[in-house]
Amino acid sequence: MGKITISTLVKMKAAGEKFVCITAYDATFSRLVSEAGAETILVGDSLGMVLQGHDSTIPVTLDHMAYHTECVCRGAPQSLVIADLPFMSYSTPEQAMANATRLMQAGAQMVKLEGGTWLSDTISMLVERGIPVCAHLGLTPQSVNALGGFRVQGRTPKEAKSILADAVEIQDAGASLLVLECVPSHLATDISEKLSIPVIGIGAGAGTDAQVLVMHDMLGLSQHSARFVQNFMTDSNSIQEALGAFVQAVKSGAYPREEHSYS
Ligand code: KIV
Repeated sequence: MGKITISTLVKMKAAGEKFVCITAYDATFSRLVSEAGAETILVGDSLGMVLQGHDSTIPVTLDHMAYHTECVCRGAPQSLVIADLPFMSYSTPEQAMANATRLMQAGAQMVKLEGGTWLSDTISMLVERGIPVCAHLGLTPQSVNALGGFRVQGRTPKEAKSILADAVEIQDAGASLLVLECVPSHLATDISEKLSIPVIGIGAGAGTDAQVLVMHDMLGLSQHSARFVQNFMTDSNSIQEALGAFVQAVKSGAYPREEHSYS
């Protein structure tokens, strides 16, 4: 497999071929994710919960993200690595520039940030200067306190309309990818069909162009797991087998099923 780039993913979307993203936080696991055939790796700020034991992603710092991004990139030189900009590290375009630069210099090929319309100027500024951006809409975990918990978003017509408008606006601002988290399947399918950029779903049903799961969740290691998570260790004899099973299930359409989705 050659180096995965944004254009690989755009071609896969155009061909109706699903691609896969799994979180990783170190070199060993990023190598396993890459060997399992996942095209993209997310150095998620979920590391605050699954590695550091916090109950949200809010305590994660830029230093943490830069350190884990360096580790992940060493293990998976062929994968497209996306690194999360952590809480309050992109509240102005200038702050986002400085902090995204640090993650790109740590080895990432793209940065991810959470939010919609208010990020348009920031996204344009990063993209114009050569930093590809993945946006994140729906349940945005860094806003857990404002959202009143880890809840499904976009269930009312008003909320759904606003998420769709945000998605169109961030695409127009220059984002290359969009993560949609915990939204009803019909909304995620509609957004994926309307956008030309690939949409990666998590708890967003089967109609998105790709799926992402937090590695500790799909290996059955997390204390609490959401409705959309499948434990791929259940029918596997090793971590390698479980990662491969997830990749194959996404590509064949066997995951996610109705029971993993919201309406
Ligand atoms: O931090 C993370 O792992 C994420 C995924 C849940 C998409 O943002």
